[in-house]
Amino acid sequence: MNKGMFHNNIQLIDYLEFWVCNGKAFIKSYLEPLNFYIIGSKFNEKRTRIQYLLSNSLGQLEIVDNLRVKSFDQQFIIVTSSISSKDTEFFEKTALHGDFIQNISFICRDINEAYEKAIKEGAQSISEPMTQELKGDSFYKSCSIQSPFNDLIHTFVNRKITYHNSNPLHLFPGFNPVAIVNSEGEKPLQLTGALDHIATCVEPGNLPKYIDWYYRCMGFKLTAEECDTDSLENELVLDKNFYVIKKSDFKFIKKDNIGLKMAVLSNQPSNTKHFKVPPIQLVISEAMENGEGQIEQYIQYFNGGGVQHLAFHSFDIFKTVQHSKKEKLEYIYVPDSYYDGLHERFPWITDEMKLNLKNSRVLIDSDNSLSKDIVDETEQKVGFINQIFTKYCNDRPTLFFELIQRVDGLGFGKGNIIALFEALETEKVSVNK
Ligand SMILES: [Fe+2]
Repeated sequence: MNKGMFHNNIQLIDYLEFWVCNGKAFIKSYLEPLNFYIIGSKFNEKRTRIQYLLSNSLGQLEIVDNLRVKSFDQQFIIVTSSISSKDTEFFEKTALHGDFIQNISFICRDINEAYEKAIKEGAQSISEPMTQELKGDSFYKSCSIQSPFNDLIHTFVNRKITYHNSNPLHLFPGFNPVAIVNSEGEKPLQLTGALDHIATCVEPGNLPKYIDWYYRCMGFKLTAEECDTDSLENELVLDKNFYVIKKSDFKFIKKDNIGLKMAVLSNQPSNTKHFKVPPIQLVISEAMENGEGQIEQYIQYFNGGGVQHLAFHSFDIFKTVQHSKKEKLEYIYVPDSYYDGLHERFPWITDEMKLNLKNSRVLIDSDNSLSKDIVDETEQKVGFINQIFTKYCNDRPTLFFELIQRVDGLGFGKGNIIALFEALETEKVSVNK
């Protein structure tokens, strides 16, 4: 593996772990509609918790040099819930946050190096590096550190699997296999790829502290820092390092206290046009003091900063949305007026594209990157992203999911934050008339 493409030895997201009040219900409601299936399960040592291991792909793996070479599209998720009323740690945390992401795990070239760097830079240790010997000369190494977010840890993982075309369960020692049978008795279709980005929210004034921690302890860098800002998405880039949306960017907004400051950190340089290995992209949005937007609401109900949404790649977003809606996954409402305004935002959009988007209530955003397929009137090629957001998973407005399909498009849909808000405001105005 080419070391040069990374900022450090943290290479790939391995798994994400949710802590939820009811594992089976959470999986049925939010993960199975996206064709994530349970492939393994286990109890913890005290038998107070059950963990389910899920994957969005049921294919075999080919493993070389610690990375799953043919399966970068595969994403693993662990869902943990407690089965004992004495498990106070678990219940205290889920009472504080609702269902939440408790662990973001990374594959590292060398976990000792990653761990020592983080500890030297002031990260708190959760568990020291340990090696589990497996059959043959295979092994599983792991260690964990506390992240700057409350109750979120990072686990560093390194494996050696000596048998090729391996069962994915071999990557997670201790999990017992669970047979996958769907109603048709067929292998479920893979609808999502790996994670595109992880979006987090932090308290007012805290953004520099979080950026600093990920710089020092994890070796991540701000993506905007390495780009020519002129080639970045739009006028929302106010300074070199941050994306900022101001009150003046909204046409219809009446409130003073609305806005957003956002930073994107990654383990790979963002100017790598075609990534060989998917980059880790951590989006951090900072709440405004006395703000009344989505970020402030998150901080209030989550009781601090944490993971707000996970964005999965979709190979065909329209198909994924159609399938998951049939399976009762709910998406946020996008009004007709959003689609009425698309020609103004993107003059190159065709009527057919607009109709497809409107029929599935999928959003579109664009930057200046190149695309092979879409050509505007001046023959300049443009790239775009399609995205859609689910409704909140909790009763409280905290965690949700995003699907994103990139057609040579960069960015995270900042244009949609404004466009969607304005569309909803327009809708309100026309109803009130
Ligand atoms: Fe997002």
